[in-house]
Amino acid sequence: MASETKFGVRRYRMYINGEFVESASGKYFPVTEPSTEEVMAEVPEANEKDVNRAVAAAKAAFDSGAWPQTTAQDRGRILFRIAERIRKEAAHLAELESRNSGKPIVEAEYDIADAATCFEYYGGMATKILGHVNPVPDNALSLSLREPIGVAAQIIPWNYPLLMAAWKLAPALAAGCTCVLKPAEQTPLTALELAGYFTDAGLPPGVVNIITGLGEECGAPLVKHPDVNKVAFTGSATVGKAIMKAAADTVKRVTLELGGKSPNIFFADADFESAIDGALFGVFINQGEVCSAGSRILVEKSIYPKFVEAMSAKAKTIRLGPPLERETKMGPLVSKDQFDRVRSYQELGKKEAKLAAGGGRAASMTRGYYVEPTIFYDVDNSARIAQEEIFGPVAAVIPFAGEAEALRIANATPYGLAAAVWSRDIFKALRMVKALRAGVVWVNHMQPTYVEAPWGGYKQSGFGRELGPWGIEEYLETKQVHINLNEQPIGWY
Ligand code: NAI
Ligand code: MG
Repeated sequence: MASETKFGVRRYRMYINGEFVESASGKYFPVTEPSTEEVMAEVPEANEKDVNRAVAAAKAAFDSGAWPQTTAQDRGRILFRIAERIRKEAAHLAELESRNSGKPIVEAEYDIADAATCFEYYGGMATKILGHVNPVPDNALSLSLREPIGVAAQIIPWNYPLLMAAWKLAPALAAGCTCVLKPAEQTPLTALELAGYFTDAGLPPGVVNIITGLGEECGAPLVKHPDVNKVAFTGSATVGKAIMKAAADTVKRVTLELGGKSPNIFFADADFESAIDGALFGVFINQGEVCSAGSRILVEKSIYPKFVEAMSAKAKTIRLGPPLERETKMGPLVSKDQFDRVRSYQELGKKEAKLAAGGGRAASMTRGYYVEPTIFYDVDNSARIAQEEIFGPVAAVIPFAGEAEALRIANATPYGLAAAVWSRDIFKALRMVKALRAGVVWVNHMQPTYVEAPWGGYKQSGFGRELGPWGIEEYLETKQVHINLNEQPIGWY
């Protein structure tokens, strides 16, 4: 899938109809390593022609050829083999992921293992897609059958590149769909590596196509294509809204995961040490480039000064460094664009609130898109740094008095992806759990994510659920079958 150019840059090809190919234009675009700001690879720049080619391959593979004949058992086995190969190549994949995205190698290793687990989980689920017998009041057999939706377009972001590819591909394949996956332009490399495992795993050509390109030139025509039956998207709210509109013309099924501004809520009776760790982990994991980042930290007034102080002191000790060093706890942001965006929010925060830690570029690093873990306090929930998704290591700490106020502030956002509550009073925690308007709620933890449990947002964080049995539902249609058991003619006219 990759060759060396004369400048020593790895040149990848993309994957259409079971083959590694160039783009129709023959153009490539550079992929940057965020810790060095240097080009680490080139990938084909796909445009509408390539989209058409990939969708045609996916449609042909759905309509005819080996895939529609592949049993659920065999679809499951193919997914198990993909998982096994990911585990075998885990060290290589983790290194590539870490270099390309900037995430610490230890986090990348978790992500790669989770990606394999996701293929295993849905490999097992392929044989558990069940229909129903409907108890209709007639001499008839009424059935509901579950069938794959068809061709799925899957557009993913750069924060968990291979894991997001797994979350999209594994349930779709288990359901019997075919796929055109577009990785983010910043981080296409591990998805292209993954493509190299498909033929060995027994996946017929055209079932998965992976095309690399930019949002407007490649993502947009993919969403509009009339032969695409479903779009699954994870990314920004702006693009999510555009996708929803574009999908309307051909009534595509859509699922959207659009991030958020998730509250991480600390009551005075929470275990203090765990709380400080939980606040930092919740917002700084993966450099804060996490859709469920606990970026609004709500703290009960009686512990507020002590909390801000302890959290800030500990934030200053977070080890920033090259992502491949095992001691590194925070790497660079993914790109110059994201660096500029996060830097501008750091500056905005200095006008909107008080700064307790960080606030700038990481001075210790001479190159790379590193920013300091940053904590603002005395933030008003209506401030832009409390309302807008920053997607970087920037926390907004907000004081509250009592449960009712915590809840009001927590829910006062257009988003609703996730929330966390910290308290040793289980009844208080459960009252909050019930009243929080979010698709994922953690108690005395934040961020653990499991393939067995549903993932997705309320409100403008999107709709549809990934993972667990919910994840496969989004790739299935339901067909009603009515079998008349009467022997005499129907006789209405
Ligand atoms: P983005 O939403 O533009 O990119 C995500 C994916 O959508 C990429 O594959 C991109 O190529 C594709 N895309 C872009 N424009 C498209 C279009 N018109 N039609 C179809 N596909 C399109 O996100 P971006 O610009 O990388 O990041 C901006 C902000 O978005 C971040 O700062 C963050 O706030 C948010 N974001 C949220 C994510 C989440 O997990 N919910 C992930 C990534 C970004
Ligand atoms: Mg964008």
